[in-house]
Formats: sequence, structure tokens, C-alpha cells
Amino acid sequence: MSYLENLESAGLFDRSVPRYTSYPTAPHFHDGVGRKQFDGWLKSLDTAHPVSIYVHIPFCERLCWFCACRTQGVSSLSPVQAYLNTLLAEIAMFKAARPKGLKLGRLHFGGGSPTILTPDMIDTLIAAIRDAIDFDDTYEFSVEIDPTACSDEKLGAFARGGMNRASIGVQDFNEKVQAAIGRPQGYDLTRKTVESLRKYGINSINIDMVYGLPYQDLEALINTTRQVITLTPDRVALFGYAHVPWMAKRQKMISEDSLPGAYERFAQAERAAKMFSEAGLTAIGIDHFAVPTDSLAIASQNGHLRRNFQGYTDDRCTALIGLGASSISRFPQGFTQNNAATVNYSKSIASGNWSASRGFSLGLEDRMRSRAIEMLMCDFQMDLDALTAEFGDFTKSLFSDCRQVSETFPNFTTFDGNVLKINPEGRPLTRIIATVFDTYTTSEAKHSRAI
Ligand SMILES: C[S@@+](CC[C@H](N)C(=O)[O-])C[C@H]1O[C@@H](n2cnc3c(N)ncnc32)[C@H](O)[C@@H]1O
Ligand code: SF4
Repeated sequence: MSYLENLESAGLFDRSVPRYTSYPTAPHFHDGVGRKQFDGWLKSLDTAHPVSIYVHIPFCERLCWFCACRTQGVSSLSPVQAYLNTLLAEIAMFKAARPKGLKLGRLHFGGGSPTILTPDMIDTLIAAIRDAIDFDDTYEFSVEIDPTACSDEKLGAFARGGMNRASIGVQDFNEKVQAAIGRPQGYDLTRKTVESLRKYGINSINIDMVYGLPYQDLEALINTTRQVITLTPDRVALFGYAHVPWMAKRQKMISEDSLPGAYERFAQAERAAKMFSEAGLTAIGIDHFAVPTDSLAIASQNGHLRRNFQGYTDDRCTALIGLGASSISRFPQGFTQNNAATVNYSKSIASGNWSASRGFSLGLEDRMRSRAIEMLMCDFQMDLDALTAEFGDFTKSLFSDCRQVSETFPNFTTFDGNVLKINPEGRPLTRIIATVFDTYTTSEAKHSRAI
């Protein structure tokens, strides 16, 4: 059998599987875990370790049809101002409840589009966070930047507040693709945004690209990849387009006929990866690339790469506090998620209650499987000795799963009794292989394509 036939028989071209940005994945969160657990878990945080904070801004000036993020289009700033007031109240609650001495290691503003905030709003939000928690000396502060909803003044405000990393959405520069996803965005504007960021001293810039978009063919993908390389990003995230119109209703604007097929998607992902590698970027996990001096590439080399809701990270904070509507928090004991609907989130905070409305409490087996799957997603290998050192004999239950993987994917994996390895040709199958270790089976309909 050829390489592609082997991948096909392993399910690469027809399966839909989780992206494993968490384990268990978010569809398994339930309302038996909520504000009570959030409050208890927050108050029991160990101040010896800095925490990460994620702030969600669920608004955009434009609504791109391909986007599966939790956001809404707005034509005026009044709902944004009202939301900011709620966020400030939530931050004040956080300040009152957190253990004394807790420090912030990472701060991430995501969305939606944080760049919809005016410079004054940005100053106010960052001042509130700085008042609520001290920044650790080695803190990192990143912001998702939409070049079409941005200005020098806004970037200046983020930089003044301490932003030292930025992530810019590109997706694809081809005009036909952009028209089909409702997201016009010129190369020149994007280049100016990169230059502005560098002028403000932001030396770590990520660019988001997406393959598998409507009308995107290999030529469009190659041209966009070339253009992205000329922007000299420190990192690139190359996501496969997740077409999930039953969840993201706006995707109904995209005709299924215009989408490239699974083989074409695979060719696009492979070609972009080859071009990034030829341009000197190191491949990180299943879909990221970074210059070798970038901390993500270094973490990948040292076995310190981790996976969280934003994708790959070198963040080793043991807890992540999610602020804002729909934000997910992760504690050593489990996950909580704030109300997804802004109106419900705002009502909770206005009544002085945390907004966490669902979540998941982690047992020891969950924690072990979570780390085992993270190892596969980050390092393409699962080290059972390392897991046993952390979780004890409990890891015995993983042996039969590892054996099952090596029997099911003999051309793509090896298992010597201690370490399960996915070989380089098998890497496109990583998410499929990870499902073997997932004891919470979910219907494929809830997930995106394996490629
Ligand atoms: C919150 S969004 C983007 C931030 C900013 N609003 C912008 O548009 O530049 C984060 C990233 O998620 C990715 N994304 C959104 N929807 C996606 C989908 N359906 N499939 C794959 N990636 C998606 C895009 O690459 C996007 O840049
Ligand atoms: S891609 Fe960015 S700008 Fe477009 S809808 Fe999604 S969050 Fe908003």
C-alpha cells in the first residue's frame, strides 16, 4: 500500500476527532460543577506558583463566516463598554477572593477581537488586572490582533500595559478565499501591523493561518505561505478549517461544495509545513511552527511543550483563570467554564456570583490520561516510565491501550513496553491515536475532521 492508502486505512480522511486542547474535552463538561468549585479551587491555589489569566472579549466589528470562536458582531461600542464594566466587576471579585501573594505568570487577551477595545478601555482593563494581581518578573502578556480592527494607538496602549507577545489573524491572503469567508484583509495592512508591533518592541509575533478554506487550492495556500514567510513571524499556527455549521451557525454562509476535499486538505497542510521548514521554522506538535530561538521551539526541544485551549504553549503555570463570557478555567482539581451567553454571564457577575456554570472535576485516572494524551500531542511519544513516576502503578491501565495502538497502526508507531512512539510518517494520525486513550467517547459529529 502507498503512504496515502495507509493513512486512509487508518481513518485520516474520513474521521472526525477532538483537537485535545483539554482532556476530557469541553463537550464532557456538565452543570454538576460550577461556581462552588470555582470558588473553592481558586481559594486553594498554591501561591508558590504563578497563575495564567485568560480574558475573553466576545465582540468583532466584522463576523467572518468561517469563524468558530465564541463572538458576536457589534456596530457600536456600547455593548463593549457594558461588557467591560462587567469584566471589571469580575476582576474585583477575583482580587477579593484570590489567595494573598498569588502572582500572574501569563496573561492572554483573546476573542473575538480584543482590538475592538478603544485605547482608554485597554488602559482601564489592564490597570484593573494589575491592581488585582502582581505580575511575576518573567510574565508574558499576549494579545490576539485583528489588523482590520486595530490602530497604532491601540497597539501603543497594549504595549504600555505590558504586552510582549502578539498573535495576528491572517487565515489566507487570496481574495477569492477571503470573499468566501467574509474576511477581506490586505497583505499591506497586515505588514503595517507587524511593523507597528515591532516598533512598540513586540518581538514575538505569531501568525494564524488556516488550510481547507472555501475555494482555497494549493496555489492559494502556497502564495499565502510565501507572503506569511516574508512577514518573518516568530511563530505560525496552521489550523485545519473546522467546518461545524451545527455549532457555528455563521458557517452556513459557506457552501460545502466550495470546500477542498480531505486529500487536498492533506496536501495543503503538508506543503505549507514543508515551506515553513525550508524557511527555517521548526515544526511544533501537529500544527505550529516557530523559529528555533523562540521559547516554543526551545520548550519542544526540552520536552516542556504543553497544550492548552489556545493550542501549544510553553506555559507551565498549574492554573489558568478564565475571565469573561464562555472562558474556561483550569485548576489542578478540574475545569470550570463561565456562562457562554454574555447576558447570563453579566447577570451572574451583577448579582455578585461567579459565572462558572459547567465544568469537570478530575479524578486521578483523568489526570493521568490527560497528561498521557498531552505527551502524544506535544512530543509524539508517551513515556510510561515518566507517567509512572508521576502517577504510580495507576498507569498500568495504559499498557493495553499502547499495545492496541501499536497493533492498529503498525506502520506508524512503535511500542517497546516503555515508550509508545508515533514515527514521523504517522504524525498526521496523532489526534486519531490519542482517541485510543480517551475513555469518554463522544459522537464524531461533535468534532472536526482529523485532517
Ligand atoms: C479568536 S480568532 C482570531 C483573532 C482575531 N479576531 C482575528 O480575526 O485576527 C483565533 C483564531 O482561531 C482560528 N479559527 C477560528 N475559526 C476557525 C475554524 N472554524 N477552523 C479553524 N481555525 C479557526 C483562526 O485562525 C483565528 O485567527
Ligand atoms: S476570525 Fe476574528 S474577526 Fe473574524 S469573526 Fe472570528 S474572532 Fe471575529
